[in-house]
Amino acid sequence: MSALANEHKAINLSQGFPNFDVNPKLVSLVNEKMKAGLNQYAPMQGVLQLREALCEKMEKLYGVQYHPDKEVNITSGGTQAIYSALTAVVREGDEVIVIEPAYDCYVPAIELNGGIPVYVQLKAPNYTIDWNDVKKVITSHTKVIMINTPHNPMGSVMTANDMRELEKLVKGTNILIISDEVYEHIIFDGQKHESVCKYPGLAERSFIIYSFGKTYHATGWKMGYCFAPENLMAEFRKVHQFIVFTSNTPIQHALVDYIRESSDYNELSGFYQSKRDFFLKQVKNSRFKFIPASGSYFQLLDYSAITTEKDTDYAIRLTKENGVASIPTSVFYHKPIDNKLLRFCFAKTDDLLKKAGEKLCEI
Ligand SMILES: Cc1ncc(COP(=O)(O)O)c(C=O)c1O
Repeated sequence: MSALANEHKAINLSQGFPNFDVNPKLVSLVNEKMKAGLNQYAPMQGVLQLREALCEKMEKLYGVQYHPDKEVNITSGGTQAIYSALTAVVREGDEVIVIEPAYDCYVPAIELNGGIPVYVQLKAPNYTIDWNDVKKVITSHTKVIMINTPHNPMGSVMTANDMRELEKLVKGTNILIISDEVYEHIIFDGQKHESVCKYPGLAERSFIIYSFGKTYHATGWKMGYCFAPENLMAEFRKVHQFIVFTSNTPIQHALVDYIRESSDYNELSGFYQSKRDFFLKQVKNSRFKFIPASGSYFQLLDYSAITTEKDTDYAIRLTKENGVASIPTSVFYHKPIDNKLLRFCFAKTDDLLKKAGEKLCEI
């Protein structure tokens, strides 16, 4: 969709990346670290001071303790962390429960490792998980359940009740969890992010995935990290070591200083909530319908009052004829389910959101 947006000079609200910059302070810090000669391989686990700073952050935010040497690893983005976690534990014939719609890197990573994705769909209209549906597909071959909160593409969030239901489901089993929490700091309307780490019955079996890219408007840096209990982290590292060995050194050192000095991630929810509200104000008088996103930087718009076209066709036509690019949500399902919903990324400057809103209101 980004290529199509470029070709037609459309406003690109399709791909999930901010069009505003990283904090200049952080950029200067990276530059400083490069000039200071920190340009060679970092340790495989990641720079120790960064791991320590992240453990402190987990304790401050969620009241949980992780060991900086044994239970956290810096990665080259959330995607690599997800791939490494799946590769560490999934063997030929293992079943992995995937809640759909799902971020696009999950299923290929499961299949490349010989695993079998088993699908459960989120339930409209708020795109929440029906835990009975999950229970029905659990078998003796279930190895992993993958969850994602706040959710891409649906913008929904899991509640404390969801976490308790999941905890009940896996109790007494060997099922592991991969919890994709890359949007942990982007959650709206006074809700609190529910990390699996707060639930002992989940934390003991979970790989938790985070991304510096989402938190610091730096998706192109491809930096992330993974928390897991010692036994799981030992397996994770066996894989991580031979996929990338280690991740960008100067950025890790810059992040140490930045995280220690600033908790600006606390302002991220407010910042993105204003963006969501601004975008929704622009499209309020359009023929699109919406339920405000609860988290992430994606807003769904329902176009069922405009056309009966398939979402894939309409997303293309909207780009070509109306000059706004989005992502059709059916592509996040293994068998396209057409909910007549398009996903728009509102991590954009207000002028761009305003222009997009004007175009959408003309329809
Ligand atoms: C739900 C989800 N998980 C993981 C990622 C990947 O994060 P990274 O860019 O750090 O690899 C993304 C990026 O869009 C995402 O939306």
